[in-house]
Amino acid sequence: MTKKLFIKTWGCQMNVYDSARMADVLAPLGYQPVDEPDGADMVILNTCHIREKAAEKVFSELGRLRQMKDRKAEAEDGRMILAVAGCVAQAEGEEIVARAPFVDMVFGPQTYHTLPEMVAKASRAAGSVLNTDFPAESKFDLLPEEAGAQGVAAFLAVQEGCDKFCTFCVVPYTRGAEFSRPAGQVLAEAKRLVAGGTREITLLGQNVNAWHGDGPDGTTWGLGRLIRELAEIDGLARIRYTTSHPRDMADDLIRAHAEVPQLMPYLHLPVQAGSDRILAAMNRKHSADDYRRLVDRLRTAKPDLAMSGDFIVGFPGESDADFAQTLKLVTDIGYAQAYSFKYSSRPGTPASAEGAQLPEEVKEARLEALRQLLDAQQIAFNHGFVGRSVPVLFDRVGRRDGQLLGRSPWMQSVHAEADARLLGRIVEVRVDAARANSLAGTVVTTETTTSRIMAGGHIAPSPFQPAATLEASA
Ligand code: 5AD
Ligand code: SF4
Repeated sequence: MTKKLFIKTWGCQMNVYDSARMADVLAPLGYQPVDEPDGADMVILNTCHIREKAAEKVFSELGRLRQMKDRKAEAEDGRMILAVAGCVAQAEGEEIVARAPFVDMVFGPQTYHTLPEMVAKASRAAGSVLNTDFPAESKFDLLPEEAGAQGVAAFLAVQEGCDKFCTFCVVPYTRGAEFSRPAGQVLAEAKRLVAGGTREITLLGQNVNAWHGDGPDGTTWGLGRLIRELAEIDGLARIRYTTSHPRDMADDLIRAHAEVPQLMPYLHLPVQAGSDRILAAMNRKHSADDYRRLVDRLRTAKPDLAMSGDFIVGFPGESDADFAQTLKLVTDIGYAQAYSFKYSSRPGTPASAEGAQLPEEVKEARLEALRQLLDAQQIAFNHGFVGRSVPVLFDRVGRRDGQLLGRSPWMQSVHAEADARLLGRIVEVRVDAARANSLAGTVVTTETTTSRIMAGGHIAPSPFQPAATLEASA
């Protein structure tokens, strides 16, 4: 008998990947995904602990779900198994069990390959099953193969965990130590994805460019080499990777940006702050100028590389002068897109014990100023494409009838009127209008452009010149 499974996912793309794999593990037990929690036989909240708000949302969601669980029981429609997974479960498992005893299972990101056992235990016993181990065996060795096609643009986890210990961040505690999946396992999963229709793969890891593994040739491979091997897979048109740490940007990976046409010209490379004093307090292990030099090298290798990043404002002790350095760095680099956050004190992290926590108003004002600058850069970047034609991989149907959505090589979301048969194809689209978060265009040719991409035919210069270069040339 089929049972209804509802998974709600917060946070990063790794969580999106994990949710898909949880569904794969549960499929043999008869669980099929549904779009609504009401009436479901199992509800999993796959949670994020990176900032305070993310964790609080879980508890308010649990309140709503408790009512649905009770209604289902009253209607004698069976039991709703309620589960909290992910990083909040890892960090606050005991607290969840205490605060929300109606939750049946609480388990961390390293344990979901044991879901069948946990479900069996939860079905037998009253009370919550708590599993926040870091088991010695790798879940990747024990997970079943993906249950079905994963879509035109798919994620593939190649690395998990982090050993960097930035002083603000919970990831080293919730996801554990850095771990790289073996190259053979990654290549096999990629081939299965492509056989199922996937054209674009985003390699995932908390610190993805720290990936390393033993190649079948007996040498140690880095991410650059892995990308070169993936590029050999017939039918795989686009490769991306996220998220990277500046310290792990190896020479071969930088060269891969110049040499592998399938590697898309977009890089998410968080820097967090522009002041060396704050970078040191964050334990980032690089200076602002190290980052500038690195981006220069990347842009020498790949002149049209679109940069993305993460920023934290209001880190403990951040002065106006420190913050001005962040704005300066953003101006110098010129981002196509970026994420910015107010510092959020996380229990157990070294920065949370710092005395000089900043007032909310200061954080708010700095976030606003940073966002204005980043938004202006993003809009300028997108406007530079109007009138040009870009190769778009259509991967979804749009909200309006007859509309398809896809991405440009530079990660912009592009929508156009297009026949549904163009889903999964790379199509030339002329950009008619640009907004902050998307481009609107018209399909110019329906020819698949993979061969032109292979031939490097699309390596058009970015319309975006970093401000520093503009100043220099002005
Ligand atoms: N407060 C605010 N932002 C944070 N991030 C990580 N930890 C915190 C925190 N305690 C941000 C960083 C990271 C992104 C995923 O989340 O910018 O790169
Ligand atoms: Fe967190 Fe720093 Fe590791 Fe990124 S590199 S996951 S910010 S500790």
